[in-house]
Amino acid sequence: MLKSIIMAAGKGTRMKSDTPKVLHTIFDKTLLGYVLDAVEGTGLVEEQFVIVGHQSERVEEYLKVNYPETKTVLQSPQLGTGHAVSMVLPYLNSYTGSVLILNGDIPLITSDSLKEFIRFHSESGDDLTIMSAIFDNPANLGRVIRKSDGSLDSIVEAKDATEEQISIKEINAGAYCLNWGKIKQAFSNLKTNNAQGEYYLTDIVKWANENGLKSNIYTIKDKKEIFGINSKVELAEASKYMNERTIRKHLENGVQIIDPSTTWISPETEIEHDTVIYPSCYINGKNKIGAHCKIGPFAHLRGDVVLEDYVKIGNFVEVKKTTIKSHTNACHLTYLGDSEIGSNVNIGAGTITANYNPLTKIKSKTIIKDNAKIGSNSVLVAPVTIEEGANVGAVGVITKNVPAWALAITRAPLRVLSNWVKKNC
Ligand code: UD1
Ligand code: CA
Repeated sequence: MLKSIIMAAGKGTRMKSDTPKVLHTIFDKTLLGYVLDAVEGTGLVEEQFVIVGHQSERVEEYLKVNYPETKTVLQSPQLGTGHAVSMVLPYLNSYTGSVLILNGDIPLITSDSLKEFIRFHSESGDDLTIMSAIFDNPANLGRVIRKSDGSLDSIVEAKDATEEQISIKEINAGAYCLNWGKIKQAFSNLKTNNAQGEYYLTDIVKWANENGLKSNIYTIKDKKEIFGINSKVELAEASKYMNERTIRKHLENGVQIIDPSTTWISPETEIEHDTVIYPSCYINGKNKIGAHCKIGPFAHLRGDVVLEDYVKIGNFVEVKKTTIKSHTNACHLTYLGDSEIGSNVNIGAGTITANYNPLTKIKSKTIIKDNAKIGSNSVLVAPVTIEEGANVGAVGVITKNVPAWALAITRAPLRVLSNWVKKNC
């Protein structure tokens, strides 16, 4: 087991945003959340530290609500990545085991890659392992400098690099595994004599070499995983890649996705085989979609949606926090929120579950039991239950529970006035 430190104190100036960089989201989950979950998913980390600084109250509050086990450590002012990690020294004073350090802005990193990285580090027995990747255009990333025998010499930031160094395509990914007992002394020896006047975490490599410690390089297989986000352009690129990766996984698992280029599926959505996703769907949050379902075109699943097998969610249908049992159809122009819907139910076009009272701000539940039929353009005013087999006539405004096998009808009787038009012209 090891400990982890995630650096999340930087301002993220290039995001040009009022929100701290690590709280920006992809599919409504924060960049920091992805990194924390990837670390957690290794099953190898016993204690997680997050370094907070810029807008620390907001980041701390987010962590308290969503990751209560995580310990936050304040870095103020923010004097660089090396300074950030040194904030943990008082907490790990007598600790001598391994520490995994990660930048907080790499949401595409996976638990599998981190596990392999940690395994590589512990099997080599080295004191320090950095993660690298090869980029055609490494732009602002730190360059990995190797000695003539190929071993690790140092990391040089782009702003400090010579012309020769800047042409190097192997970069520092921003993930480090280290033997804390041996490397921790490096943090009191970092200097700020560099182009940015900061304490660079990357300088621990040089220190380790100078002090006779063993360092090594692990090159990640899929370089996209360590794509760091510094701007909204990069956020959009990372979102697109995360989506492509998710869609590929579903296609490989037997889900039919007609047009991957217009389909968005969050990584936390499970879909079973033979379900078809039609173009232009947006599937957000955590969802479980069964087999043989048909979704879309133009459907919006907003999270906490559970669909059993053979469910149809058609065009312009929005579903949120709702469970739908098998063989139920909601094919057109519908909103289903905070609902429990049975099997063999037909939801007519234009049905709305009115789940929210804007005066009390309370959300209520709609329950529709097996075999019920909801006529087109109906509003089900929650809390409300439509019992088994009941029918709601078209344009029903349902404010009371409807008993099993009853017909509920609220529309005024139809009047046909003969020749009314001619008489009134
Ligand atoms: C860093 C690396 C660079 C590497 C790149 C990979 C250093 C000096 N450079 O550069 O070699 O190629 O990541 O993406 O480490 N942070 C703090 N406190 C600070 C400064 C930063 O917590 O005082 C946090 C940021 O919130 C961010 C992470 O550290 O999550 C990295 O900082 P950032 O400024 O993005 O570093 P890069 O310039 O990208
Ligand atoms: Ca960065």
